[in-house]
Amino acid sequence: MNSASSRSAHIVLIGMMGVGKSTVGRRVARELSRPFVDSDDEVVARTGRAVAEIFATDGEPAFRAIEEEVMANLLASQTPSVIAAAGGSVLSSSTRARLRESGTVVWMRAPVDVLVGRTSRGTHRPALANDPRATLTQMETDREALYGEVADITVDCTAPITAVVGAIVRSVNEVDAQ
Ligand code: S3P
Repeated sequence: MNSASSRSAHIVLIGMMGVGKSTVGRRVARELSRPFVDSDDEVVARTGRAVAEIFATDGEPAFRAIEEEVMANLLASQTPSVIAAAGGSVLSSSTRARLRESGTVVWMRAPVDVLVGRTSRGTHRPALANDPRATLTQMETDREALYGEVADITVDCTAPITAVVGAIVRSVNEVDAQ
């Protein structure tokens, strides 16, 4: 759990691919009049290359190293923001340590069936090229404890986006008021 003094800092959305971190994050940011940033977008901006291209050409460890640096920069920013942290960013222990100090961490959750549907669009998820259901199931098993380790709030994201945005804004306000 983060200290009360850090709560007014960033709101960081974590969770599996396809749970809606970017879509929901943009709306939460608008409601709270904060800037929105997405770690995958920052990787692309920094490298000038697509996520899928970095995976294919340099491999996953190279992508994770860039992701770790990008997350460190985003979390160090002095402007309280809403940050969508890509699904695998919690694999880094130093990112997890920084997340615990960064503000309010919201773990967005949804059943694998929902994630499969939502990840069927888009091209920045090379890990899901083969058998997305099996891959997402295994990833969730592998990462569940890591998400749980850093989360201040857990929000069920099965509902339509407007309801999820409302639930996150309410939860963050409740944590701030404590
Ligand atoms: C990944 C999640 C993706 C992207 C990459 C790997 C993961 O981001 O960084 O495809 O390992 O969970 P989103 O969570 O924004 O889809």
